[in-house]
Amino acid sequence: MTAQRINPSILSADFVNLQHELERIATADLVHVDVMDNHFVPNLTMGPPIVERIQAVSPVPLDVHLMIADADRWAPGYAELGAFSVTFHAEAAADPVALARRLREIGARAGIALKPGTDPEPYLELLPEFDQVLVMTVEPGFGGQSFMPDMMSKLRAFAEAKARLGLDVWLQVDGGITVDTIGIAAEAGADTFVAGSAVYGGVPEERIAQLRSAAAAH
Ligand code: DX5
Ligand code: ZN
Repeated sequence: MTAQRINPSILSADFVNLQHELERIATADLVHVDVMDNHFVPNLTMGPPIVERIQAVSPVPLDVHLMIADADRWAPGYAELGAFSVTFHAEAAADPVALARRLREIGARAGIALKPGTDPEPYLELLPEFDQVLVMTVEPGFGGQSFMPDMMSKLRAFAEAKARLGLDVWLQVDGGITVDTIGIAAEAGADTFVAGSAVYGGVPEERIAQLRSAAAAH
């Protein structure tokens, strides 16, 4: 079986106690950090100074999800501060391949994210340029929304391209992932699962374990 990763999103954590909230997810694979600019999405979270402090105290590596415009300008800084992976949205970069190459040069894994309305077609042949693809299963911007099963055909298209090209690119899903939906995404080819409200809505360590078994049982 391919390795499966559970990446809790701290968007659902208590922002005034971030260090404690990070320690509660020490059994996760990575911590998913949602950066929003109130421009690319209608919500605002944090920027480089806070992410740098998260990087300094987190027990697990950082999976940074940039929901910001002008990714060309901002994404490299997150790689430089030590993020394990930096994912930007397809529409937010002037030249996604050039930006991915720059992120890899700095030493981060490069990810490309697709909103529900984004056509996967142009990116299938570009898969070798990326270390991960994030298929959004909600409209980006907010936690606690419902999983969009319609996105599974997009995930399957990436899973087929990945197999055809013989790549080990990670296929990530983000939005509405719970013990009830994670198996649907795993069955469609996802191997990396972001979950915010499902993890922080209970005892994080227990929720992470439950998500792991539900993903493995698909
Ligand atoms: C939404 C963010 C997600 C969010 C997911 O735009 O990208 O990472 O935290 O939250 P849940 O798991 O609650 O849908
Ligand atoms: Zn996210």
